[in-house]
Amino acid sequence: MTNLANIKILVVGSGARENAIVKSLYNSIHKPKIYCFGSTLNPDIINKSIGYITGKLTDHEAILKFALNNNIQLALVCSDDPLAAGVTDTLLANEILCSSPTKAQAQLEWSKTFTRDLLAKYDISGSPLYKSFDINNFDTAIDYIKSLKTQFVIKADGLCGGKGVKVQGDHFDTLEEGLKFCQEIIDRGTTFLIEEKLIGQEFSFFTLSDGEHLSDMSPIIQDHKRAYEGDSGPNTGGMGTYSDANHLLPFLSEEDKKQASEMTKEVARALKQEIGVGFIGIFYGGYIKTRNGVKLIEYNARFGDPEAMNLLALLETDFVEINYAMATHTLDKISIRYKNLATVCKYVVPLGYPENPIKGGKVDISELHGNWNDIYFGSVDKTDNLNLLTLKGSRAIAICCVDQTISQAEEKVQELIEKINGPLFHRSDIGKTEYIQTKVDMINSILIEKRE
Ligand code: AMP
Ligand code: GLY
Repeated sequence: MTNLANIKILVVGSGARENAIVKSLYNSIHKPKIYCFGSTLNPDIINKSIGYITGKLTDHEAILKFALNNNIQLALVCSDDPLAAGVTDTLLANEILCSSPTKAQAQLEWSKTFTRDLLAKYDISGSPLYKSFDINNFDTAIDYIKSLKTQFVIKADGLCGGKGVKVQGDHFDTLEEGLKFCQEIIDRGTTFLIEEKLIGQEFSFFTLSDGEHLSDMSPIIQDHKRAYEGDSGPNTGGMGTYSDANHLLPFLSEEDKKQASEMTKEVARALKQEIGVGFIGIFYGGYIKTRNGVKLIEYNARFGDPEAMNLLALLETDFVEINYAMATHTLDKISIRYKNLATVCKYVVPLGYPENPIKGGKVDISELHGNWNDIYFGSVDKTDNLNLLTLKGSRAIAICCVDQTISQAEEKVQELIEKINGPLFHRSDIGKTEYIQTKVDMINSILIEKRE
């Protein structure tokens, strides 16, 4: 392995996911020099980095200038907006190694039509029935919806900050309401997809890629997108996650995991053929286990937030080495290991989140006594008082704990949440045994229905 001692690494982003990434880099035996271009004042990243500035995460010029001024050797662009804006392309053009995808590669995330069409073109199974619409064929949407004979989902193309997808039965009820949303998308000048609604349990499965070789991240994670207990309320960026010691989920089999893994392998091959170069970075498959096997909800081109916390808390292999290997097509030279332990991660979020979140409120973290090992700062700013943070309106602080069982990890998370005081709420049900059982029961019931 190349000498990585004190390698200068740039992390673009300063949320909880990037906090997890920085913690892992910081623990490397190579003692990297960490620089962060963030959008918030993250107290833990500030402590662990030697250069930190804030700005707009899509500001190519500012990011490049910061990278060049600090002789950055390796960069990690961690979130969807800068990836879609091509920040990786700018850094690569200036001979800075990147372990993240280019704009063309990240298309897998920022264009839902591109991804569905890619699977169709290369005959990769796993998509629901779907059709794309634009201003020209918009008037045939009604016929297509009727032909589906199932509930349907409408997805605007492009990044919409989580607001581009509406699911019948969850976000709207009637055909007319659905068509009204289609009209709104068309009026914005955007195209959209209509898909068959899939019924089952969702899970996140990640695969590292260096453009030539793939390495599945073994632990499978389940996120909880809805804001309130029992998976009710509006969609969010993700309120919390869990993973099990055997790296499966209580409703998932090895065979399901294999199906998801195969799909990513085929998609990686197809993408390479389609755009001419291999994908560098993280394939984040959002899958759903249905009565007809594992299906694809969507791909993202980055770590999930909060899934990054679960995965990196379990990672045993040096994270600097992994990123360097991704950037230099040498993933096949390292073996990547994960602890066989369970994880639970929960976010505390501002009251009113996601629709009318309190902004500017104060969070008191003095009871943590500076022990931030399991704490990941998100949409908060540090203040002059080390124990006081200012809420910025989105998911505030993630707490992720590791233990032998999911329920032991969950108890630890709850204990830490009690020590964080402010105008906040969280989902107490995530990771609780009885709640996970409802997911197992749901899968069992749809499988039984199929047999009947
Ligand atoms: P996305 O932005 O594609 O992740 O979609 C957001 C959420 O919408 C997903 O996490 C699912 O819960 C739901 N969703 C998207 N597509 C479908 C589908 N075809 N069937 C059922 N639910 C879906
Ligand atoms: N866990 C949801 C996301 O990262 O998009």
